[in-house]
Amino acid sequence: MAFNLFKSKGKLGIDIGTSAIKIVELEKEGGRFALKNYGLFEFKGSNNTQQAGGESKQVQNILKLPDGEIIWGIKEVLKKAKIKATNVVASIPSFSTFATVIEMPYLSEQDLAKSLPFEARKYIPVPLNEVVLDWSIIDVPPVQANKSTMVEIFLAAVPRDETLRYQRIMQGAGLHLRALELENSALIRALLGNDLSPTVIVNIGGRSTSVVIVNRGYERLSHNYEVGGFEITKSIARSLNVSLEKAEELKKKMGMKEVDENVINSAMKSLIDMMVFETRKTITNYEEAKNQKISRVLLVGGLTNMPSFANYFQQKLGREVFTGNALARVVYPQTLAPVTQELASIFSVAVGLAMREI
Ligand SMILES: Nc1ncnc2c1ncn2[C@@H]1O[C@H](COP(=O)(O)OP(=O)(O)OP(=O)(O)O)[C@@H](O)[C@H]1O
Ligand SMILES: [Mg+2]
Repeated sequence: MAFNLFKSKGKLGIDIGTSAIKIVELEKEGGRFALKNYGLFEFKGSNNTQQAGGESKQVQNILKLPDGEIIWGIKEVLKKAKIKATNVVASIPSFSTFATVIEMPYLSEQDLAKSLPFEARKYIPVPLNEVVLDWSIIDVPPVQANKSTMVEIFLAAVPRDETLRYQRIMQGAGLHLRALELENSALIRALLGNDLSPTVIVNIGGRSTSVVIVNRGYERLSHNYEVGGFEITKSIARSLNVSLEKAEELKKKMGMKEVDENVINSAMKSLIDMMVFETRKTITNYEEAKNQKISRVLLVGGLTNMPSFANYFQQKLGREVFTGNALARVVYPQTLAPVTQELASIFSVAVGLAMREI
């Protein structure tokens, strides 16, 4: 039973990460976004992955679970956070999408729409009937275009099967999927807004790290690799011979603090140095290829909350780094102030999704 009177005007951003499902509800109030609600669901061993020996193990990757379990997880968040809104923008993880920037002659938008699929074939490594194409013109020429006017186009493709799967999942959870978006595009909206300067976003999640170069508000180059917070926890557990739970606790408490008793430091250093190395390599590749300087480094993702992490990263990288703040343009209750930094870093993709116009 639903009377429109009680229906929330809010919009949900749903980010199904490898280690957790994150939901944010934003409402637009007088031109500004307001945080209405949020919730997170982590799959733990107890209810779905009991190993033979009785020892529970962490789910390796939520996206590999059957749809039914993901639906159940989403419903749990909705229930616990008492979320009533049903309009959803969801993200597709970068590893299952394709994105690039191409240049094409520009006469008119209609003309471009006609010729784009032919051009796209050259760049997209799978048959076009297996993907859903999306594109936007980065800068529409301000004056009357002529035959030699070229424009940059952001081109994205998502496997059709994946889009159908997300539709089924959201429907199963009683929600309306209004748009599906690339994870990195949501991240860019939440962190950069209208800022057009060349930036690198380093997103360190549970299972993976992505390094995304953004210029004029669009992803230009991205590099994903399979090391994230979970590998770091495992490394601490191994070298100190403690449980994963204990290692996770130490990671969050001690982080990279330069103190004598910080025995976990060395267990993490080589993995973090690798993240720095991958970041530097991606920046250099871009700067050399485009002959353009990256002016800013932003860190996001759960792991960046670790004590002294940003400091260590900055020292190793040899460039100034900043912590990205997805809630910078969002109004939230003052009671959340002490935890907003952590919230912002974990929910950054979900915030960007909920900000999308539908
Ligand atoms: N305060 C903290 N200190 C250190 N690490 C933290 C903290 N909070 C969360 N993490 C770590 O962040 C990781 C999860 O980050 P995040 O929520 O960004 O991942 P995800 O989006 O689910 O995963 P992925 O992006 O790989 O799909 C976990 O490894 C967790 O241990
Ligand atoms: Mg993530």
